[in-house]
Amino acid sequence: MKIAVAGAGYVGLVTGTCFAELGNDVTCVDIDEEKIAKLNNNIMPIYEPGLEELVFKNRKNKRLKFTTDLKSAIKDSEIIFICVGTPPKENGEADLSYVENAARAIAEAMDSYKVVVEKSTVPVKTGDKVAESIRNYNRHKCDFDVVSNPEFLREGSAVHDFMSPDRIVIGTESEKARQIMKELYSPLKAPIIFTDIKSAEIIKHASNSFLAAKISFINAIANICELAGADVERVAEGMGLDKRIGRSFLNAGIGYGGFCFPKDAEAFIRISEKLGYDFKLLKAAQEINKDQRKSFVKKINKALLDVKGRTIGVLGLSFKPNTDDIRFAPSVDIIMELQKEGAKIKAYDPKAMDKARQILKNIEYCNSPYDAAKNADALLIITEWDEFKQLDLKRIKSAVKRPLIIDGRNIYNPDDIKKHGFSYISIGRKDVD
Ligand SMILES: NC(=O)c1ccc[n+]([C@@H]2O[C@H](COP(=O)([O-])OP(=O)(O)OC[C@H]3O[C@@H](n4cnc5c(N)ncnc54)[C@H](O)[C@@H]3O)[C@@H](O)[C@H]2O)c1
Repeated sequence: MKIAVAGAGYVGLVTGTCFAELGNDVTCVDIDEEKIAKLNNNIMPIYEPGLEELVFKNRKNKRLKFTTDLKSAIKDSEIIFICVGTPPKENGEADLSYVENAARAIAEAMDSYKVVVEKSTVPVKTGDKVAESIRNYNRHKCDFDVVSNPEFLREGSAVHDFMSPDRIVIGTESEKARQIMKELYSPLKAPIIFTDIKSAEIIKHASNSFLAAKISFINAIANICELAGADVERVAEGMGLDKRIGRSFLNAGIGYGGFCFPKDAEAFIRISEKLGYDFKLLKAAQEINKDQRKSFVKKINKALLDVKGRTIGVLGLSFKPNTDDIRFAPSVDIIMELQKEGAKIKAYDPKAMDKARQILKNIEYCNSPYDAAKNADALLIITEWDEFKQLDLKRIKSAVKRPLIIDGRNIYNPDDIKKHGFSYISIGRKDVD
């Protein structure tokens, strides 16, 4: 099938590349000329495991193209995916201007029937707005259908998630579009849920909000464990074995970040408000999430008495492992707060340092975790990269000024760390001196 993808970011690039890998002819379009130039020179603008190989392979096979020319890409395609950003506005609502611009540009270029697919995460009823924009700018009065097909991939395992999804959600009111989408996704052999457009839009926000709330729930439990002297890891294990609950997303820590959970939960609160519902549960989940970052900084302050003039080593900047994405990452808030209080920051991340350099200034970016630990008064674990789970703790101990690890992701066993002679502070577990 002939496909155009508007927006070649984390979602668009993975979507376009995977559809090419499945045998379709795909053109990825972006307004960012630098990004397209990079992709046309086989330089990846993002880090995502396994993606680079697929991009190179499918470009070589001529099934995958990159361009800034939306017009010709639209003319040549029957299915057009909108994968542009929906960042938060000041008030937490999703900024739909990129979606609106893309819809308008698609309408102006259309010269035959098109299926226009919303893949970006959008508030319920955006499908109606997209259809209205297309009707208003549809010069050639072509037939079209709008489909909502939210994306559930996770950065860090995006290719795998796209190719082996738990489910595919397709919201449409058109039988023709339903058949086209069914055929497009048939090679994936995954369950497909067909719904109306509004339900599909809500499925995405409801899913992300549920997962965010699950993380905040275990973080609330972690706070109770700290006060009671219990161990949140054991509690999560005991809860998670109950099939109705499940162990995933019960990892206590410094909370969720990234381009999805915080903004989608906030947007869903605003959407609910507009519809006349006060989503108290989700508001509390967001509040708990913000508090986790603050209480982590408090823990650091308490352990060091005062962070002013202290050197703090930071391991991990990306919002989660296996990605270079630092959008809404806990690292950003935590480092900025520590800097405000006068700490000197040394940091290391396997993939996210280039992106971090654009936002986090006055940091000594290091070449290895051992470099970041050198002369540190405390070493923080902010992202649970595998590399940090396998550190040579003897080497770390001889590098630091003071053997103190403050672990925001509970990646170590407190007894093991104690054996290595560290003081160890983690989340929802007893401190080790
Ligand atoms: N990142 C994720 O893990 C993830 C997962 C599921 C859903 N989503 C949703 O998918 C959407 C995209 O997220 P992302 O992380 O890929 O964003 P991104 O910022 O990485 O990519 C968006 C791209 O769209 C481009 N763009 C903007 N306007 C355009 C236009 N008119 N025509 C062509 N290109 C245009 C931008 O230049 C940018 O490259 C968002 O709604 C997000 O909430 C993201």
